Amino acid sequence: MVSQSSFENVEKLLKKHNQSHILSFWGELGESERKNLLGQIQVLDFAKIADLAANLSTESSLSDIDAELVPAGSYGPIGADAEQNLKYDKAIELGKKLISEGKVGAFVVAGGQGTRLGFDRPKGDFPISPVKNKTLFRIFGESITAVSSKYGAACPWYIMTSPMNHADTREIFRSNGYYGLRERDVFIFEQGTLPNFSFEGKILLAEKGRIACSPDGHGGSLKALYKSGAVDDMKKRGVEFISYWQVDNPLVNIFDPLFIGLHALDEAEISSKALVKTGPMEKVGNFCLVDDKVTVIEYSDFPDEVAERRNPDGSLVFQLGSIAIHIINAGFVEKLNTGVLSLPFHRAVKKIPHIDQSGRCVEPAEPNGIKLETFIFDALPMASKSIILETERSEEFAPVKNATGVDSAETAREMMIARAVSWLESAGITVPRKPDGSVDCVIEIAPSFALEKDDIKAKLNQIPEIKPGDEVYLA
Ligand code: UD1
Repeated sequence: MVSQSSFENVEKLLKKHNQSHILSFWGELGESERKNLLGQIQVLDFAKIADLAANLSTESSLSDIDAELVPAGSYGPIGADAEQNLKYDKAIELGKKLISEGKVGAFVVAGGQGTRLGFDRPKGDFPISPVKNKTLFRIFGESITAVSSKYGAACPWYIMTSPMNHADTREIFRSNGYYGLRERDVFIFEQGTLPNFSFEGKILLAEKGRIACSPDGHGGSLKALYKSGAVDDMKKRGVEFISYWQVDNPLVNIFDPLFIGLHALDEAEISSKALVKTGPMEKVGNFCLVDDKVTVIEYSDFPDEVAERRNPDGSLVFQLGSIAIHIINAGFVEKLNTGVLSLPFHRAVKKIPHIDQSGRCVEPAEPNGIKLETFIFDALPMASKSIILETERSEEFAPVKNATGVDSAETAREMMIARAVSWLESAGITVPRKPDGSVDCVIEIAPSFALEKDDIKAKLNQIPEIKPGDEVYLA
């Protein structure tokens, strides 16, 4: 039973922060609803919320830092220059050593809701591979299994979900036999949530006894990795480096020795992969230096005028886009959590169903409130050192974000086929093409067959002759 004193404490707290309406329906609530509501209120960080509520109507603006924005520098793509290649050889060797010593763990953020894709299950369960229709989770799982056997090390896989998809994700992993990994090497945990606000800064109620909440963004992973015990699990296993990626990218190279090795050689705390943007308006984060610190500014916050700036040779000044792939030191996550971990909040204006003050359910037709999220890349400037490695789009980035058009399942499948073809052709295999030069077959390479281009060379005798119109699955 909820004690009178804990109710009074909460009542006082809400009054102080101008959020008393949360208890408007207290008299109508049953005992367990009351307990849940108090529990939800007690975990809120009111100092932060007061600050937020006061600033909710302020659009984010870069005008004050605009003048100081400088493009961030990066390591170039592999093979670009001779001096760099020496360092790359050393980095690859170190990266391979770290993987085989079990010092690298895989970490996918999969708490998002896949709204744009119009898929109502966890996005990782979206079927995407061109021949076998493997899901995103299966592709990642098979890649991690293949890496584990290639390097003779058990590579653990950490998966962050949100309260909206946690149970479904667990069930998907269980019913798919953990995609070939041992169950004990798969660690699924939930991220936190943040309350939703009206434009006036009032916390919205989803039900009379429940606050409206949404996932706290992928930035929440830094807290959730720590709170869930994932970091402790890493410590026990000796995992020092976390390979982070987003659930929507089937081309990700999860255990990239070069990236891991460069990050470790340079003693960075969190590092990023980048590619040259297709144009000024590509919907990716922009790598900049702010006060000499590597920083990502999301496309939606990046002023058009800055995005359009060109160098004398015509290239974009801010040409490096983020593909949301990072190496993060487990020690950095721990350090942030034992200090004051405070990522900035980003606001999104949304339609938020809620209960109004008369107790009616409102399903708004127009945006009526604000959801807040934190972003992982806001931790970059908190690192003592952060490096960027430029990579090639065709090798590592085919995001599945939209139902049709740009960054859709269709474009991702085309890119998966194109990468498979390029790997085969670079090993001297003939791939049929139409008179216009386009590929005349569908090819899928299983992670167990090849994790990278060079793995193909050892398998040449297992590749059948490919005829026009063939569907080929190499496993
Ligand atoms: C993201 C990046 C963008 C980057 C681009 C590359 C942001 C704000 N933008 O865009 O800088 O260039 O990808 O593809 O991140 N997620 C959670 N919990 C949440 C919210 C999201 O786990 O609370 C996960 C999603 O499951 C997904 C990833 O984070 O794996 C990205 O989320 P999404 O909202 O789709 O970001 P994008 O706008 O696509």
